[in-house]
Amino acid sequence: MSINTIILAAGKGSRMKSLLPKVLQPLAGRPLLSHVLATASEISEKRLVVIGHGANEIRNVFGQYENIEWIEQVQQLGTAHAVMQAIPHIADDEISIILYGDVPLIKKKTLEQLIKKVGPKSIGLLTAILGNPQGYGRVIRDPAGKITEIIEEKDASDKIKTINEVNTGILAIKTEMLKKLLPKISNDNTQGEYYLTDIIKLAVNEGIAIESLLTSDEIEVQGVNDKKQLATLERAYQKQQSDKLMEEGVTLADPARIDIRGELRVGKDVSIDINCVFEGRVTLGDAVNIGPNCVIGTMGKTVKLADHVEVKGFTIIEEAEIGDGCVIGPYARIRPGTRLAKNAKIGNFVETKKADIGEGSKVNHLTYIGDAVIGKNVNIGAGTITCNYDGINKFQTVIEDSVFIGSNTSLVAPVTVGEGATVGAGSTINKNIDKHDLAIARSKQKNIQGWTRPKKQ
Ligand code: UD1
Ligand code: CA
Repeated sequence: MSINTIILAAGKGSRMKSLLPKVLQPLAGRPLLSHVLATASEISEKRLVVIGHGANEIRNVFGQYENIEWIEQVQQLGTAHAVMQAIPHIADDEISIILYGDVPLIKKKTLEQLIKKVGPKSIGLLTAILGNPQGYGRVIRDPAGKITEIIEEKDASDKIKTINEVNTGILAIKTEMLKKLLPKISNDNTQGEYYLTDIIKLAVNEGIAIESLLTSDEIEVQGVNDKKQLATLERAYQKQQSDKLMEEGVTLADPARIDIRGELRVGKDVSIDINCVFEGRVTLGDAVNIGPNCVIGTMGKTVKLADHVEVKGFTIIEEAEIGDGCVIGPYARIRPGTRLAKNAKIGNFVETKKADIGEGSKVNHLTYIGDAVIGKNVNIGAGTITCNYDGINKFQTVIEDSVFIGSNTSLVAPVTVGEGATVGAGSTINKNIDKHDLAIARSKQKNIQGWTRPKKQ
């Protein structure tokens, strides 16, 4: 049977105290809603998202996902009213799963189990037992243990508030049944809202069984209403990531001090020191070593480090392809379009951008290499700058194999330094250099003999 997910995301999220709509608040670097959508995509053919507050902003962020149906709930009259808006867009012979845009870490496996509870005469309801059930709707069972209704905290007596089995809000139901029961829900309650939870009592009255699935994982059903809960889930999510890495054989200096905001794929014997952040799509080959305080990758971009790469502390790699055995850092900044061939070395305070650096070449200190193609076994002296920008246009610098560039050289692009050429330290090079030539372009030194220093007056 075909499955659709209805994701409720119309609420304001006032407790975030933010200009950003709640479901766009970032968890692991991407919107809360994107986490729910990713899981929904794994279990359902159709995804309907009910939006209201910040609707345009939300639609813009997810604009590129064509397979989302956006449904606008102009006035937020309650969770049942929200689901009601989606009804015209779903077919009777489907299963509907209700999810929440602000419950980001719900697991695919749990939803699959929940779907199994759905039948022509049964609804699947996900419940949880919480140490502190405050704020949640409580699950009411009869003496035989059958669920009879859900009572919202705001409508609950003190006795009912002591029940610690809560409604997670997540349920699975035949769409036909959903369509039949929803219109019967009234807003006769403390909040004057149409509660989706009332569907339980209505169903029971019609002889429909509520098949509950109890999750023991508080994190997967936790909603995010404020920044404290957001931070709690962020840490929980990061812990899941670091656990997974260690299961894959990665050595983490401290599993509590690593953040993965994207996808990190690893080879064997990878080792990562403290306080590293991985963003976007990052691949680390075998025996890669990452030093402390590195930022590897940028949102939406790709970084690939081949085998035996060593990244020393405080290095930033934004978008790049790094060959086997390269050594980078400490304090290097590898910007987009950098490609390092095997065994290249990039040292401290070096910035590279759109740079293709050949096998075994060394750029070890205080240098900027941008819009450049560098051959094999080149040595770039300290303080070398490729002057790639004239204020309007960018130009390329080409440095062929086995070139030696002396320290403090400015290479004014466009310029080519031929194979095996040598540039004397302190040169400003604005003409091409032929293969194996020596170029020196600096003012001549003058020594004045017996110079007496001025005296203090
Ligand atoms: C809801 C449940 C409660 C459950 C809790 C779990 C109801 C009546 N109560 O309470 O039993 O324990 O979730 O987290 O369902 N929304 C809309 N349109 C609306 C109202 C809400 O889209 O008109 C969305 C919100 O943006 C949010 C979700 O529905 O994503 C839940 O709404 P919220 O008001 O937070 O419900 P709770 O009080 O948390
Ligand atoms: Ca909520």
